[in-house]
Amino acid sequence: MTTQETQPETDAPALAFPPGFVWGAATSAYQIEGATGADGRGTSIWDTFVRQPGRVVNGEDAEVAIDHYRRYRDDVAIMADLGLTAYRFSVSWPRIMPEGSGQVNEAGLDFYRRLVDELLAHGIQPWLTLYHWDLPQALEDAGGWPLRDTAARFADFAACVHQALGDRVRDWTTVNEPWCAAFLGYSSGEHAPGRREPAASVRAAHHLNLAHGLATQALRAQGAGAMIAGAVNLYAVSPHSDDPADLDAARRIDGLQNRFFLDALLKGSYPEDVLDDLSRVTEIDFIRDGDLATISAPLDRLMVNYYSRFTVSGKPGGAASAAAAPTGAGSPWPGSEDVSFVNGGRPVTAMGWEIDESGLYEVLKRVADDYPAIPLVVSENGAAFDDVLDGGAIDDRERLAYIEAHLRACHAAIEAGVPLKGYFAWSLMDNFEWAWGYGKRFGLVHVDYATQRRTPKASAFWYAGTIRRGGLSGPAE
Ligand code: FCB
Repeated sequence: MTTQETQPETDAPALAFPPGFVWGAATSAYQIEGATGADGRGTSIWDTFVRQPGRVVNGEDAEVAIDHYRRYRDDVAIMADLGLTAYRFSVSWPRIMPEGSGQVNEAGLDFYRRLVDELLAHGIQPWLTLYHWDLPQALEDAGGWPLRDTAARFADFAACVHQALGDRVRDWTTVNEPWCAAFLGYSSGEHAPGRREPAASVRAAHHLNLAHGLATQALRAQGAGAMIAGAVNLYAVSPHSDDPADLDAARRIDGLQNRFFLDALLKGSYPEDVLDDLSRVTEIDFIRDGDLATISAPLDRLMVNYYSRFTVSGKPGGAASAAAAPTGAGSPWPGSEDVSFVNGGRPVTAMGWEIDESGLYEVLKRVADDYPAIPLVVSENGAAFDDVLDGGAIDDRERLAYIEAHLRACHAAIEAGVPLKGYFAWSLMDNFEWAWGYGKRFGLVHVDYATQRRTPKASAFWYAGTIRRGGLSGPAE
């Protein structure tokens, strides 16, 4: 990567981040690896899902994706050019355990050994996520996340990966965004396995939390040294008005999106009001004694993914959902299907997500204030825009502005006493954006899907400069 950074390298940052702040970028296995049939990998629910007509825009799949499985060395070189101090990636469960449990595929583990060694050789800390949505199909066939046993299988998988990589990976994340895995996977059906069963989705949510707790236990049992985290996707939630119906809609959506997971992981309880709402969807007979103690075992940090703010209304006949799915899908809000997501009047990204960095500040401050002191890391933040390749360059100033504004919010949160330890941009490279396919580009680095050519965008050069300086260069524009 050649340096196109316009700021002089030496200028001291006006907004410096604390020494040791982690500057990273994130990806996930299914979105980038491709090579879905290579070296004994089994089938995941996403492999099955993408083959079903109407599930993904243009019927796209991730059999090749961005071929990271074969190009990982080049990709690590790009990370090193950017100056990343850490890289967050996920491990594909069916590469390691093709049937979800039992037999271990050493060739799958070898890929991650090579990747981790390459990262370490470049001085980049590997931050490993165990579950970023690619459940082995065999486990879905047995019942999937609504089945309690899946959580136990996940703990076995976690122990297996830790046995292989624990000597060189310190930073572990269990489950990425249990909200998405449960409610997009089993309630709205927008994501794999595409089931539209609100009652089952509630059980899935609990079992994903349990999977986090059991995996944490399994990792701790293998000895000290691992830094263990869960990763939740939090939203700032505002009521559309002071009308009691809108206030209640905000309570319910905040409950399902944020508190259901935060309270479980960090307080060892589910919010009573949320359980009460959910009891109209399903009998709450799946939480066993001891589950919440397992789920809330102490963590070393909480990973927070943040993209946007929701403005919600509970009044009948509200506007169409701002969180609309690309393909026909049900509601990801079991028991709160009536809530409408109102346009808050802010500029939006190519996903239609409103841009609101104040929501990131709000979310970070709230976690720091409402939950026991736990170090936080922004583990995903970024934006899709319709990039234009112009003479070999991509001047993605909207993405750059988005990331800059959100880093300012991070800095303000740190100033306000929030123990924020790092920031990972989503994503390092353009990739397969789930049900949206390849049309939505989140990368700092552009990928030409026909040639697999990688081209750093202006935002990548800017981020590299920010990392070099250890902070932001000037006042907000
Ligand atoms: C998050 C996912 C990630 C990516 C971004 C845009 O919810 O964790 O894989 O799709 O959204």
